[in-house]
Amino acid sequence: MSHTPIIEMRKISKRFGQVQANDTVDFTLQRGEIHAIVGENGAGKSTLMKILYGLYQPDSGEIYIDGKSVKITSPRRAMRLGLGMIQQHFTLIPTFTAIQNIILAKEPRKFATLVDYQSAETKIKKLADQLGFDVPLNTPIESLPIGSHQHTEILKVLYHGAEILIMDEPTAVLVPQEIDGLFDCLRGLKKDGNSIIIITHKLDEVMAIADSVTVMRQGKAVATCAISDTAPHQLAEQMLGEAVSHSPIERKEIEQENPILHLADVTIKTHTGKVLLDCINLDVFPGEIVGIAGVEGNGQTELIEVVTGLRKVQDGIITLNGDSMVNATPAKFREKGIVHLPADRHRHGISLDSRIDENLIVGQHKRKVFCKNGILNPENIRRFSMNALDKYQIQVGDISHPLKTLSGGNQQKVVVARELSGGQTVIIAAHPTRGLDIHAADFVHSRLLQARNRGKSVVLVSSELDELLKLSDRIAVMYNGKIADVVKTDETDRQALGKLMLGISDLDG
Ligand SMILES: Nc1ncnc2c1ncn2[C@@H]1O[C@H](COP(=O)(O)OP(=O)(O)OP(=O)(O)O)[C@@H](O)[C@H]1O
Ligand SMILES: [Mg+2]
Repeated sequence: MSHTPIIEMRKISKRFGQVQANDTVDFTLQRGEIHAIVGENGAGKSTLMKILYGLYQPDSGEIYIDGKSVKITSPRRAMRLGLGMIQQHFTLIPTFTAIQNIILAKEPRKFATLVDYQSAETKIKKLADQLGFDVPLNTPIESLPIGSHQHTEILKVLYHGAEILIMDEPTAVLVPQEIDGLFDCLRGLKKDGNSIIIITHKLDEVMAIADSVTVMRQGKAVATCAISDTAPHQLAEQMLGEAVSHSPIERKEIEQENPILHLADVTIKTHTGKVLLDCINLDVFPGEIVGIAGVEGNGQTELIEVVTGLRKVQDGIITLNGDSMVNATPAKFREKGIVHLPADRHRHGISLDSRIDENLIVGQHKRKVFCKNGILNPENIRRFSMNALDKYQIQVGDISHPLKTLSGGNQQKVVVARELSGGQTVIIAAHPTRGLDIHAADFVHSRLLQARNRGKSVVLVSSELDELLKLSDRIAVMYNGKIADVVKTDETDRQALGKLMLGISDLDG
């Protein structure tokens, strides 16, 4: 006897201008399974899921839920059908508290008009406990870390009654411990009878969590199979349509005399006296990549903020090529050659409503090639943009369209292409390959190594130890606002780093 699938999408097609985002895609989700969707940036994964969630209407094709033909005309309709989606870029309202976000559009009432927060809170607390989440429900979203944003999103869809969860790259923004937590949560949800679709670029995650997988390439679903019938290298080949080869990048030895970036006793405190950075001492020399490891929330974000001018320090010395930069503005840092690949690109890196080519040059528009005597040079901007699109394989229909028409990964490539194009001396890269497919991540790695080999300095903050170990010459491990230790990469390994990250010294065993 065959079971009726909970979701069946048949021959779904969707075109945006010249881009065929989905091309007669068949997709089936069985009840109670975790189904992964993989594919390169721009392959059409998010589009397919937005169609399922009623955010886009397909040009053609049909959707069946539990064997019944349905028209999903809006997210509201999707929710009524038991669907919940956690999008690639979170959609919470920053100034609302977690609980206000969760109950939005489904506020429990008492006395007909008053919102009954009490009963909502009790219900949500119970859900959160079941899932092992610890979200401060009455804090505005904007002052919560990104892991809590995701917990809030999950609580929100469950509170609204979802039984089919769609998660678009939920792990891209999480650190390893949080990913383990998320996967435990997904296994629990599955055990309770929910069905889950998860998009990810990390094939080890697919192997770890999914029951089956669908591979997309250039708008088509090119393969679907059970996890037990596949392997990471096979999935990678199906994604790219060719065998994958890695060319290792040589590491040139660079003479090191004076540090480019020098931090001594840098300290920041909040107005309540909490110490966020505690006497940070760090030198970054020309021609080296210094990795910053640490469990999220141990000072990495603040460290990046002080070396890019986004946050003031209360004490200490910061110099760049010998010049004091204490409490200089972001513009000053930029002028002195510091570029910043921000972790939260939607907040700091890009303007979704501006044109793609404008996003590619913003912050650099004063460079002579782009602008002479205050007048922009459209021809040079165009040439630069086309070159960047080509080098980074950024798939666009038209560079005059707004950035938001690009896939998530392609938006990130725009930021990376822009920041790595100028004559920078120090690159501050926070999670530079988040959301990028295997190809693109490799390309960014090679760009960072090339910059290093040309004598530039790179500060690389990453939650992925493999990335840190692959790229860094030295790794500084942060714990509790301090640098616990700085180790040479060839003298350490995952385990040693893991211990330092958790604040366990060798004396503790
Ligand atoms: N609203 C839109 N307007 C125009 N083009 C769009 C729109 N949404 C998506 N596209 C295009 O459709 C294609 C598929 O995009 P989609 O977001 O589905 O890719 P994806 O597989 O999710 O990629 P990523 O891994 O980078 O998130 C891309 O070329 C993208 O530029
Ligand atoms: Mg996407």
